[in-house]
Amino acid sequence: MANYQNLLFENKSGIVHLTINRLDKLNALNIQTIQEIKTAFEEIYDNTDIKGVIISGAGEKAFVAGADISEIAELTEVNARKFAESGQEVFATIENCHKPVVALVNGFALGGGCELAMACHMRIATANAKFGQPEVNLGVIPGYGGTQRLTQLIGKAKSFELCMTGDMIKADQALQLGLLNYVVETKDEALAKSEEILGKIIPKAPVAIGLVIDCINAVNNEQENGYQTEANGFAACTKTEDFREGTQAFLEKRKPEFKGE
Ligand code: COA
Repeated sequence: MANYQNLLFENKSGIVHLTINRLDKLNALNIQTIQEIKTAFEEIYDNTDIKGVIISGAGEKAFVAGADISEIAELTEVNARKFAESGQEVFATIENCHKPVVALVNGFALGGGCELAMACHMRIATANAKFGQPEVNLGVIPGYGGTQRLTQLIGKAKSFELCMTGDMIKADQALQLGLLNYVVETKDEALAKSEEILGKIIPKAPVAIGLVIDCINAVNNEQENGYQTEANGFAACTKTEDFREGTQAFLEKRKPEFKGE
């Protein structure tokens, strides 16, 4: 397994607990951390023992307080474009992962932190979580997909407001806007809720789960006809052993046992 400087990568019974671990910088994402997230997801894609992922931030204060402003301050037009594109690529890798990825958000999820949470398939937050895209306060705009994913999740009116004012919102408001799946009180409860959801998904047919992810992500892709992606995925499922098992088990009034084939 890779050696990480800014991440904790723990595989607990097939669920990877990926913790962004730069406590003294409120887990801000420097380039090294983005690269490490990429490496971690290469392992998550390839390792068939891994069935799901929970991404969180170390400590009690922040999920991730943004991209690292000390690095952003040094960017020029040429390397800023590369900076944004390579971050977007890593976050797309998270979004397109065929295994369910949950963000467990505790404390600040600002800028790149909010963008990281939005690249995950689901978000569980604690009541003290705060979300925002405050880049305009630095004279810049979101660069890791924030304008796109925020708009997809909460619509244009509130995205305009959040990205232009740079305001932070609390977890209850983020829930109301559709940014979150659940809000709970403590980090332990958020972990339990994340594990509960993954515990429901993991026993299901993995091919079907991966195709659900592809189809829902197709909504964001103007080059793709999502209905066609869905029809293709639906057809692809019928070629799997798990489809035979799932339908037979229903007809035989028993629980299915899926094998991922
Ligand atoms: N990049 C780099 N360093 C960051 C950071 C970021 N995005 N966010 C926090 N830090 C660092 C601070 O510089 C400070 O480091 P220091 O102790 O070496 O001075 C440390 O983390 C603690 O942060 P601090 O600002 O002292 O904590 P706070 O409780 O007073 O404020 C925040 C918390 C989140 C409100 C504040 O840190 C903040 O506004 N961060 C930037 C948020 C942002 O604009 N993100 C988008 C970036 S594109």
